[in-house]
Amino acid sequence: SVVVIDFGSQYSMLIARRVRESSVYCEIIPHTADWDSVASLNPKGIILSGGPASVYEANAPLAPSWVYDSGLPVLGICYGMQAMAHQLGGKVAPTSRKEYGHAVMQRSAGDDPIFKDLPQSMSVWMSHGDQISETPPGFRSLARSENSPIVVMGNGAGMLGLQFHPEVVHTPQGKTIIENFLYQICGCAPLWTPGNFVSDSIERVREQVGGGKVICALSGGVDSAVVAALIQNAIGDRLTCIFVNNGMMRKGEPQAVRDTFQRHFNANLVYADATENFLGALRGVIDPEQKRKIIGEEFIRVFDEEAARIGAVDFLAQGTLYPDVIESETTDNSVSAKIKSHHNVGGLPEHMKLSLVEPLRYLFKDEVRGVGLELGLPEEIVYRQPFPGPGLAIRIIGEVTHDKLNVLQEADAIVMDEVRRNDLYREIWQSFAVLTDTRSVGVTGDFRTYGHVIAIRAVSSEDAMTADWARIPYDVLGRISNRIANEVPDVNRVVYDITSKPPGTIEWE
Ligand code: XMP
Repeated sequence: SVVVIDFGSQYSMLIARRVRESSVYCEIIPHTADWDSVASLNPKGIILSGGPASVYEANAPLAPSWVYDSGLPVLGICYGMQAMAHQLGGKVAPTSRKEYGHAVMQRSAGDDPIFKDLPQSMSVWMSHGDQISETPPGFRSLARSENSPIVVMGNGAGMLGLQFHPEVVHTPQGKTIIENFLYQICGCAPLWTPGNFVSDSIERVREQVGGGKVICALSGGVDSAVVAALIQNAIGDRLTCIFVNNGMMRKGEPQAVRDTFQRHFNANLVYADATENFLGALRGVIDPEQKRKIIGEEFIRVFDEEAARIGAVDFLAQGTLYPDVIESETTDNSVSAKIKSHHNVGGLPEHMKLSLVEPLRYLFKDEVRGVGLELGLPEEIVYRQPFPGPGLAIRIIGEVTHDKLNVLQEADAIVMDEVRRNDLYREIWQSFAVLTDTRSVGVTGDFRTYGHVIAIRAVSSEDAMTADWARIPYDVLGRISNRIANEVPDVNRVVYDITSKPPGTIEWE
């Protein structure tokens, strides 16, 4: 494996993903970590991330001394390179002008394994305000750009610094540079494959659970399905899945989830249709955060009740992913403003006394999909668009009622049908209908109507942090609009939401 020492760059997670995409296991660790906490990972190399600081500021984060004493190869990226230069006796100085964006780098004479199979000149992506003005003893400049004589530095013995960001797509040869570090310099083998991480995860679950019993909540999404599949593979029918239908799912979804389960799982399923409980609890509620809170609490109540009926259980399985783990370890939540509470379940009641099993704790989303395919789950689950826990409740503006749910489910089913038919499902991050609380005047035949306005929302995104409205072809939008206005009673107008995030969010509530 390789470890990434995090200096607070927005790109640290991306570095780790790139390393994993090159089939080498990688974990992100804080810059304060001691060697004992890292030794068990048996790293073959270390990457120092970028970061917002300047090395000559007081309290600037630096790499722990074990990094340089370990004898392991080290790759410093941007701020990581500057920290390395500073700590090993070189000099770092502000550039006369901050440099953002594309730059062309020219390699110096002589070969270095970091440039294996690469041309003399390459386009790279820069984002820095400081640069190396003098290499540390034993290092030389391996590449320069117009603005900077030291874009890459190395000591010929595994220590390297890059002023640019090889992890971003704007550095076209970045992948090869990272792979050269991993394979040529660290001597890593490409062992991190779906097959291996499946067997790895199954092993970990067996070790943790022993002869115990596990319950897990099924939602219809990819994460909970993969959790269930992994655990079932590890412990067989000592797993029971609980599927709570909160009534806020898409048309036909509860049945589809149960059908898929029957077809692909060999575990116990408890199905609880709690639609009426949820609708009752939501009566009269219009505030979005209040809706989320009520749905979260109601879920726990129903889940707890169903779990009690199963009898003694020891573990609760959850689909926590690696980015959630890193985020809760490295970010200071007190400083970022709360936009929406996305955590659906505040935590189970004390009396349940269950230990957590989190078999996806070390995986990125694309790796979770890889596990799903490896375990034989169908593509319709593995590539399912994300769907929020509170479901249609946060896509009905205002109070949630039976009637409005029916209207939205019908309109949404048409959106999804057309998106699938036109092969847009996989390229769009999320697509759905929203029932606005506006009514507008229309005409059907010779009669005036006063009906609902449906909004269509479709976005492209990588991670839901930012998103752009999807450029769905006009023809498809036209068909969606026509069908909704004709087929869904009480709807006489359809609009398309062309807001990106920011400033909008993906959901309307
Ligand atoms: P926003 O609307 O904040 O959404 O741009 C970002 C992503 O999060 C999903 N989302 C939620 N997921 N519970 C969830 O499980 C929630 O309360 C919730 N709110 C938003 C949204 O669908 C998008 O993928």
